[in-house]
Amino acid sequence: MPKHSRLFTYSFLFLTLSSSNSQLLNPQAPWSLSNYSRPPWLTLPVTNPTKSFWIDKPGVNPLAREGSTGTLGFGDEDVDVCVIGSGITGISAVYHLQRLLDAQGIDKKVVVLEAREFCSGATGRNGGHLTRNFFHDFGSRESHYGTENAKKSYLIEEHVATSIVNIIHSHGLVDAVDLVQGDHITLFFEDEEARLALRDYKDAQAHGLDLTGVEFLDRGAMMERYGVDYPGVFFPSHNLWPLKLVTLLYDSSLSRSSSKVKLHTLTPVTSVLPSTLEGHTFPQRESKWTVETPRGSLNCNNIIHATNAYASYLLPQYQDQIIPTRGQMAALRAKSSLDRLLHHSWGANWGYEYWFPRPEEISDSVETRNPPLVLLGGGRDTAGPMQEQYTMDDSVISEKVSKTLNRFLPELWNGTDLFEEGREPEMEWTGIMGFTSNGEPIVGPIPELDGQYIAAGFTGHGMPRAFAAAEAVAGMIVAKLTNKEWKAPEWLPEHYLTSWNY
Ligand SMILES: *[C@@H]1O[C@H](CO)[C@@H](O)[C@H](O)[C@H]1NC(C)=O
Ligand SMILES: *[C@@H]1O[C@H](CO)[C@@H](O)[C@H](O)[C@H]1NC(C)=O
Repeated sequence: MPKHSRLFTYSFLFLTLSSSNSQLLNPQAPWSLSNYSRPPWLTLPVTNPTKSFWIDKPGVNPLAREGSTGTLGFGDEDVDVCVIGSGITGISAVYHLQRLLDAQGIDKKVVVLEAREFCSGATGRNGGHLTRNFFHDFGSRESHYGTENAKKSYLIEEHVATSIVNIIHSHGLVDAVDLVQGDHITLFFEDEEARLALRDYKDAQAHGLDLTGVEFLDRGAMMERYGVDYPGVFFPSHNLWPLKLVTLLYDSSLSRSSSKVKLHTLTPVTSVLPSTLEGHTFPQRESKWTVETPRGSLNCNNIIHATNAYASYLLPQYQDQIIPTRGQMAALRAKSSLDRLLHHSWGANWGYEYWFPRPEEISDSVETRNPPLVLLGGGRDTAGPMQEQYTMDDSVISEKVSKTLNRFLPELWNGTDLFEEGREPEMEWTGIMGFTSNGEPIVGPIPELDGQYIAAGFTGHGMPRAFAAAEAVAGMIVAKLTNKEWKAPEWLPEHYLTSWNY
């Protein structure tokens, strides 16, 4: 859920848990995956998640239960592309599929399958930041993946931020999705954090990355401008209402003329089996995969796993690579008006905490303006040694994390009247992020499963990456459907790809 998540650390806590009561997957399936077992933490999304500000406000989620009853798919017809997951990745994939297919003048059938309500995974439960990373981690990426791929890791985020902002503007929906060009400040609580950031900044600059608008501020400048006694770095960024963006992307895909799209919420995919497997006979034999749900099954020629943290439920081969990690958010009422709080989004403490004030309660008279809600996430570092890893249960909140979050802002701005000590949050919720061992997403065709693709593992930094990961996978599928060779976009880091050899 974070903006930068733990993008810059990780990989120290990745234990592989073994279990005695694990359940063997599809023991009859005639392919290699049958040899994986499912550890107890690896589940479908729970059915009673905590209520999130973004998706549970009355009236904000018109697609919440779309397609949850009635005929699955298009009757007996095979589906060209089944997308599993209706968060920003899945719906971006639909958006790009439609756009690319339209450009070729062909129409195909696309079905989206969502386990819970529309957009109820991490996209509907995150921090709401569209904060691209400008330079953090440049040095380490350069040493691991080479200079070109390191540079592309920033270009892809620039591509996403620019594309999303342009889509919102071109539909005239800036207010509808609460897009705020608020910029971002990362605070450095520790000297080491500031030192590494400056080093990465200089490396990125030396390699020609565009760092326009990035400004390092020392303690004096931070105190003067923002009343905070830590150094930091300021850079351009946006915040928005993620569900509303995803709804816009879905609606705008539907309004395209040619291809047929169907969305089925409350329809968890429980397994994906080869259509030729014994016991599965279908009128149209060319379909490759059978996707099973409690409502029946669908035949799909291509599948996109847009399930982020949950990906390994259906793809157990990723269980050591994508670690479900619970993030927690709080909606806290500030004590001062937005005029004093300012519109910026913030991050601090190695990316553990992240927040911004909602652009709400706007009124013409300064006196009657209510203090805004501030949406604050983080606190995993105080949750205990596992830091909320290896759980898919977002039906609960952690009391320890609650305490950390409730204290955080009054403590940071102690001595001011921006926040009130001891004020209870108006909402608290959790969501499950998919952390990879190197912090980078996993994108592309799944080895040995012809026709299945993955775009997952966004490591709490999905808003500025998922849209493009979906674009890459949609491009691969459209190339296949049109018998063309797929050409990687110039912004796609090779090390995101499933073909990357570590
Ligand atoms: C799966 O396990 C079976 C039985 O233990 C073994 O014969 C088979 O070779 C294994 N398949 C793979 C791909 O590892
Ligand atoms: C603010 O500072 C005062 C004085 O140092 C301290 O007593 C108080 O606990 C602090 N409040 C918070 C919320 O940290």
